[in-house]
Amino acid sequence: MKKRKNILKIAIDSPAAAGAGTIGRAISKHYNLFYLDTGKIYRYIAYLKLNFPKKFNNKFLKSKISSLNKKDLSNKNLLTDEVGTLASLLAKIKSIRKIVHKLQLTFAYNPPKKYRGSCLDGRDITYKIVPDADFKFYITANIKIRAQRRFKELKNLKKNISYGEVLKSIKKRDKNDLNRKVSPLKKTKDSLLINTTNLNKRACFLKIKKIIDRKLDK
Ligand code: C5P
Repeated sequence: MKKRKNILKIAIDSPAAAGAGTIGRAISKHYNLFYLDTGKIYRYIAYLKLNFPKKFNNKFLKSKISSLNKKDLSNKNLLTDEVGTLASLLAKIKSIRKIVHKLQLTFAYNPPKKYRGSCLDGRDITYKIVPDADFKFYITANIKIRAQRRFKELKNLKKNISYGEVLKSIKKRDKNDLNRKVSPLKKTKDSLLINTTNLNKRACFLKIKKIIDRKLDK
């Protein structure tokens, strides 16, 4: 695989709805990094399974993933709870992870030339996809706060779901993602813990920016 030299790489792992996407996007914009929310790829796979159940196999998936573009990943239908739950079940399958792995490596190590580097967030980014990242963060928040944030997001999208259902679903997804054998969510020793429970978006951004600038300015 082609790797660009001297690029800035940021790796983030986090449980569902902890704010990693918001922070990842803000940090990427600030440092001109190519940002990839890898959860969206697993969600896209779940979406394909729900919409093309008869065609869904590894060959179909490989062809869809190889022609994946930003528009596919910004599809609002990927944000539903149903898609998130199925994504977490499909993400346990080794052959599926293998297909996604290659794509993530390309974006992490060979981002488009106009970017200074890359920032990926997901579940196994800090130890499997970009183990040599310049900065590693584990972003988390209290489960009730996470459920509240996701509930608000889904309400804004006019989804008919209760807070209780969202909480239950996030709990189930945490359990799946933390306990699975393949690529479980974990905080590596070299990742910095950022707890966003009592921090707003701006405060999270500034906290991470301070950490990055301190090292970059050396
Ligand atoms: O981040 P998001 O909640 O959208 O991810 C959906 C699901 O995709 C997660 O619950 C997780 O099971 C899976 N995932 C993964 N590895 C990643 C990113 C997401 O297994 N790197």
